[in-house]
Order: sequence, then C-alpha cells, then structure tokens
Amino acid sequence: MARIVVVGSISMDQVTVTGRRPEPGETVLGTGFEMVPGGKGSNQAIAARRAGSEVEFVGAVGRDLFADRLRAVLDDAGVGTKQLRSVDGPSGIATIIVDTSGENSIIVVPASNATVTELTEADLATIAAADVLLCQLEIPVDTVLAAARHARAHGTAVLLNPSPVQQLSPELWAAVDIAVVNKGEAAELGSALDTVPHVVTTLGGDGAHYRGPDGEFDTPGVAVEVVDTTGAGDTFTGALAAHWHEGPRTALSWACAAGALATTKLGASASIPQREEIERLLGR
Ligand code: RIB
Repeated sequence: MARIVVVGSISMDQVTVTGRRPEPGETVLGTGFEMVPGGKGSNQAIAARRAGSEVEFVGAVGRDLFADRLRAVLDDAGVGTKQLRSVDGPSGIATIIVDTSGENSIIVVPASNATVTELTEADLATIAAADVLLCQLEIPVDTVLAAARHARAHGTAVLLNPSPVQQLSPELWAAVDIAVVNKGEAAELGSALDTVPHVVTTLGGDGAHYRGPDGEFDTPGVAVEVVDTTGAGDTFTGALAAHWHEGPRTALSWACAAGALATTKLGASASIPQREEIERLLGR
C-alpha cells in the first residue's frame, strides 16, 4: 500500500446549480444549492485514500462554522489529520456554479489555506517517510517548493497538480517528478513542463495522455452519465498517486476510471468513488 502525503488546501464548496450562467449584471434563477467539503488538496487526499493508499494531510482550517465539517470529511475517509492545523479566521471557501451540462466555474478564496506557510518537523518527517508527495497551488507556492525540495532530498516522488495554474520557478519544476495538468494548464505552462520527467495530461471524457521515460500513450476515457465535473481532476490525480508504484499504464487506468466515476454525482468530495467501485468499472 502506497504512503501518500498531501500538502494542500481544504475548503468548503458552495455549489449552485443553474440551467444557464448569468451574464455580467444579470440575475438568473438557480435549481439547487449544496455545501460540500472540497479544496483540491482535500479532494486528492480522499481520492488517494479511497483508491487504496495510506494518506496524511498537511493543511489548515479556520475557526468558523465550516471547520468541524471539513476536518470530519478527512477523518471519515480515513485520511490522517494529525498535521491539520486550526488557525484563527475563516476556512477556505470555493464558490462553484454548475450548469446542466455538468461544467463548472469556480472562484476560490484561500483564507486558512493561505496560512500554510511553514512546515513543522512532523510535516517534514511525514514527507520524508512517504512514497509520494502530492501538491497543488491553493496554498502558498513557497510552501510547495519547501515540501517538494524536502521530498526530493529524501527519495519521495513529487507529484504536482499545478492548479489553479500559474507560472512557477525553475527551482520548483526541478523538484517535480510527475505533473498532472489539463489541456488548458498544459497550454499555459508550455515548455516549463519539458523538464518534468513524467507529464500526464487529462483530456476530460477522452481520458488522459502520458509522456515520460516509458514513452507516450493515451488511456481512453470511460463513458458515463455526467452530472458535475467538479473534483473529477482531483479524483484522477489522487487515484494516480495511489497506483503510481504499479507503473504509469496501470496508474492511468485507475485514474481515468476514478475520474469518470467522480463526474456522475454532484459535489467534489461527495462524488469520489470507493476502491470497489473503481475496480468494478475496470472489470477486476
Ligand atoms: O478541483 C475542484 C476544487 O477546486 C473544488 O473542490 C474547490 O474547492 C476548488 O478548490
């Protein structure tokens, strides 16, 4: 069983469902609303856990009415929360609009996630003992760099999902072993990805593309009835990390199946499949 550590974000998603997105200055009636725990770090941690690995989470919630629920979603999934801090102020929030095609638009207010600026001795020891460090860009990038460098120095593979996308320093790219990007992120990052040994590009319903020392290949998508794509990329990434030790081809198969299943329900953490559901879809 792989040991994964996620150094990343956790947020409460405010999900509004609408038939049509409003134009600037326009009001439309929505058809549903839910609050669902999310945040790319937390989603990926739960996905990696459900796909079959041991997971520890390093991050921060605030002291507000969302904090207990955010902590509980990780605890209930069996993700280790010893290194989840509670900090003064609000927890991270994401405002999400989902339309009837299942596509989403998201605004993230980092709040507590922005306070993850230091790694403790315990965080560093957890990173050094893990097989894979999993990071995104919803916490300060300097913390991601510190975590990645420490991982690299201790033989822990570094998987970066550079989302929300931004240009990163050569120092950070030099510490990344595996990048998971969607097509938009790949286009925006361009040649910065050339230095990364393994690059996995998600292609939505069409599956994913791999390039790296094992050559290049496509893993086809799995046809499902799409309800909400929120968190599908996170589920893909968590499952990929959980199965990375089995090689890229097997890991991408797990990731594509898990990501497809995550689109069949509303909400990020609420839609992350259990290992048995993924195995069933893979015909195992
Ligand atoms: O990737 C989906 C996630 O992005 C949501 O859960 C939301 O919190 C935003 O961080």
